[in-house]
Parts: sequence; structure tokens; C-alpha cells
Amino acid sequence: MKKLALKELSADLRELYDAALAVREHAYIPYSHFAVGAAVRCASGAVYGGCNVENASYGLCVCGERNAIFHAVGAGERELEALCVLADTEEPVSPCGACRQVMSEFKIKTIVLANLKGDCLLCTLEDLLPYGFTL
Ligand code: THU
Repeated sequence: MKKLALKELSADLRELYDAALAVREHAYIPYSHFAVGAAVRCASGAVYGGCNVENASYGLCVCGERNAIFHAVGAGERELEALCVLADTEEPVSPCGACRQVMSEFKIKTIVLANLKGDCLLCTLEDLLPYGFTL
């Protein structure tokens, strides 16, 4: 994992950061008040965003990362290359286990964990989910 400042991100990753920041504004978070935004870049070049969406039945809450990935897949994408996730955390936000497993399904190569201050951690799937489940 590599720590980076926002200005050190490549233009492609900076675009993902900005897309994640924008979609985070739409987070539906009446219970936790913790807004998450994520964006994924596909081999086609298209970028898809997702925010967390909560529910009164708490177990139905869906994370921003999974919503971004499902948004891309639902648009017909299958080659997901890079993802950025951010939240208002002291350190770059750390994805939950379920989202790590979904990132693994689509073999996302480059993952940027970030916060609103612009602290970034450049990671691989292997960093986030070593010895993960596959079929
Ligand atoms: N959340 C995410 O969106 N991504 C994560 O990786 C962890 C948690 C959301 C779920 C819930 O809406 C809120 O953050 C608090 O857990």
C-alpha cells in the first residue's frame, strides 16, 4: 500500500476521486449519518458512481463501493479496472469485508482509499483481501 496526496494521483485516479466526492453528496444516511462515495473506472473508460443507501431494517444498508460496482455491472460493464472510495474519516476509509469480496469478484486492479482531506492509500486487492474466497 502506498500513501499519496491528492495532487500525486494520476489524472485518471483524480477523476475517480472527484466522481466519488460528487456522488457522496447523494448518500442516503438517516441512521448512521456517515456518508460514503465511490467511483469505478471500467476498461471502456466509463466511470460509475455509488453512495451508501441505508434502510430502517439496518441489515439492508448497502455500501457506496458495492453500489458503484453494481451500477457499472448493471450498465453492462464486466472489466472493472480501478475504484476510489472516500468518506470523512481521519485516515483513508477502510472498506468493509463484503465490499472487499465484491471487488475481488471483478478483480479490480487499482483501489484508492481516501478521505475528504485528500489523504489517499493506493492498494491492490491482495492488500485488502489476502487469501480471499474464489471459485
Ligand atoms: N459503509 C460503506 O458505504 N462502505 C464501507 O465500506 C463501510 C460502511 C456505510 C454503510 C453504512 O451506511 C455506513 O457506512 C455506516 O456503517
